[in-house]
Amino acid sequence: MDRGPRIRVGVQKSGRLTENSLDLLHRCGLVYSRAPDQLICYGENMPLDILLVRDDDIPGLVSEGSCQLGIAGLNVVEEQRLERQQGGEEANVEVLLELGVGQCRLALAAPEGVPYEGVHSLQGRRVATSYPYLLGNFLRENQVQAEIVVMSGAIEIAPKLGKADFICDLVSTGSTLAANHLRETQTILESQSVLLRRNLPLEPESEAWIQRLVRRMDGVLQVRESKYIMLHAPRSALKAITDLLPGSEAPTVMPLEGRPDKVAVHAVCPEAVFWETLEALQNAGATSLLVLPVEKMLA
Ligand code: PRP
Ligand code: ZN
Repeated sequence: MDRGPRIRVGVQKSGRLTENSLDLLHRCGLVYSRAPDQLICYGENMPLDILLVRDDDIPGLVSEGSCQLGIAGLNVVEEQRLERQQGGEEANVEVLLELGVGQCRLALAAPEGVPYEGVHSLQGRRVATSYPYLLGNFLRENQVQAEIVVMSGAIEIAPKLGKADFICDLVSTGSTLAANHLRETQTILESQSVLLRRNLPLEPESEAWIQRLVRRMDGVLQVRESKYIMLHAPRSALKAITDLLPGSEAPTVMPLEGRPDKVAVHAVCPEAVFWETLEALQNAGATSLLVLPVEKMLA
């Protein structure tokens, strides 16, 4: 292992993004050991270490340079960008990749029985949230005056405690809202997990490693749903069959030894392949169908 500069990547310590963030780094080839309660995991085959922290702290750590990279929800990235901006500071972070996992939304919710007829229903009322900057921005843009009650957790019980009339919180499955007799009324921000970096230049070695990691992540994201399909097709039905292959651009068509009437078709399909598709291919004359997962891909 070389002794050049190391890159620290901030990852959520425990929560909805932890496992898929660590899995993504693993799929990019990073080998590291993780002991219980350990907050830093050292990469064994790349100059890349993982810092396990609270998700809300990740954009700040990246912005200040304690981490050069981070994996966090767009919601926390945007919240801290607004916070810095309003404090007259630059948020030195740049989103490099959307990771297509951890989808959720920052949304307004009202208690059952409390009417909501659009943003103006918030006028003069209290809204509890842990995203005061995103909510503040939203209220300003809609020219609504409301009191923002800042809480760091358990936002969903604020109305019951009499601390607020409405809430503005992250919603993923919606089960937290349902369990607390709240109904979602309006989305403020759509969010998902993103890879972010400090937007100031690093040492050339680190820049090269980051580029490499981004290319690998891109490859991992591309193959996540991809399947490799192999089948035999009657020459007469080739067009009909290749048209049925989901999302595939140019399938490989090969002759079959001793079967002039048939060909073998191989294709990478960049999306999920369902039983219905296989049945349709079979009905069109395809035989010997095989669907394989794609492990790695470089464009
Ligand atoms: C969010 C939010 C809710 C819950 C909603 O918290 O504050 O409690 O998730 O999810 P659901 O719609 O699937 O029920 P999160 O897990 O992000 O924890 P954190 O705020 O402590 O980071
Ligand atoms: Zn959090």
